[in-house]
Amino acid sequence: MPSLPSTTRRTVLAGAAASPILWVPPAAAALRPQGVHLAFGADPRHQMAVSWSTPSSVRRPRLEVGPDRGLGQLVDVESRSSKDVRTVYHHARLAHLEPDTTYRYRVSHAGSAPAEGTFRTAPARPRAFRFAAFGDMGVNAAAAAHVALIREQQPDFSFVVGDLCYADSSGGTGAGGDETQDFALWDRWLRQIQPSARSAPWMTTVGNHEMEAGNGELGYAGYLDRFALPRNGVHGSPVTYSFVYGNVGFVALDGNDASYEIARNADYLGAAQDRWLVRRLEAMRARPDLDFIVVGFHNCMYCTNLVHGSDGGHRDRWEGIFDRFGVDLVVNGHNHCYERTHPVRGGEAVAEAPRGAVVDSARGTTYLTAGGAGQAVYPVGGQPLSYVTIEGGVRVPEPTTWSSVTSAQHSIAFLDVTPRDRHGVARMRLVARATDGTVLDRVTLRR
Ligand SMILES: [Fe+2]
Ligand SMILES: [Fe+2]
Repeated sequence: MPSLPSTTRRTVLAGAAASPILWVPPAAAALRPQGVHLAFGADPRHQMAVSWSTPSSVRRPRLEVGPDRGLGQLVDVESRSSKDVRTVYHHARLAHLEPDTTYRYRVSHAGSAPAEGTFRTAPARPRAFRFAAFGDMGVNAAAAAHVALIREQQPDFSFVVGDLCYADSSGGTGAGGDETQDFALWDRWLRQIQPSARSAPWMTTVGNHEMEAGNGELGYAGYLDRFALPRNGVHGSPVTYSFVYGNVGFVALDGNDASYEIARNADYLGAAQDRWLVRRLEAMRARPDLDFIVVGFHNCMYCTNLVHGSDGGHRDRWEGIFDRFGVDLVVNGHNHCYERTHPVRGGEAVAEAPRGAVVDSARGTTYLTAGGAGQAVYPVGGQPLSYVTIEGGVRVPEPTTWSSVTSAQHSIAFLDVTPRDRHGVARMRLVARATDGTVLDRVTLRR
């Protein structure tokens, strides 16, 4: 198993007299913190990471945090440089927070105006909450409009399934070399998402466009420089993790490891990721307080869109596992469109779930393609015959009786989760919204 690339990393203790990062004196005020974004730690009740960037190195980057305006606590900051940009990325991991509590924070450095924000930790016991799910955003007008939509809908957090900013447009194929790379896009993307991500965590996963040519053996170094995600994933893969929020367990997988379509990172984890997935799902299903399990990764297991179709690699590796543990919802992107399946077990639809349906999600897994978050959408048109990519990259036509709703409009999915009612039924209501907020699809999963 190849080890992950080491990036240039320097740890800076807040309040230390001198930063090991070279101090560039002029225009400190112009180096204002930007691209502020949050991520939960492995335990969202008690842990949060605050990340931000500065256009170049700065002296004494720091984060202050507290439950009120007094802030009060000064937190260690880790600062990282990254390939081909002067931008420096700062990360503060907070622990020992109180559940279901709003905190204020302020990030700053010597000589700069601060940036301030708030966040709320996850509840100690299940309560109603909302999360957004989407992928394939990019830096563009539709993406910016979606950030505004997400702010308006006020999810507690977003679950983002890869292809974030497209700094490497080759998408892991390596075609085009350096010509296809513009790492400045990362900073534009982080500024674009800040209005949402500074107050509600963005839990990201990798897509094929996060495999950046020349950026470490797996290509993930640039992604890892910019995010501080939970560190409870597969050994050897800091891009995987899991967390629990309320009555839902979330698992973020590395879809690149299982893809037959884009094989650049295929099987670098292999059985290790599968075993980790089984252990996580086992542990989640053993918890009496959890109702739903949501798994996110980039590539589509079930999608009729003819641009990428479905990837048989993920079916071969994970479908049996999802079935065994009754995974309720799988969120994918990659195809730039919206699609929702009927509940699926053993590769077959087990019930009809048209728009507005109520699905007994213990019977089958709903597969969602939520790849319409901003990049140019792909025309729909695989039903009733699409294809699956099998080992070796061969596309094999197949009937697609599992497909329920498709849309070629840009969209963001929002999911409202409620804990068990007095009859013991928990619900997850999905509403897919177009850029202007129009409802494209609705379905309720119940357990
Ligand atoms: Fe994409
Ligand atoms: Fe993709």
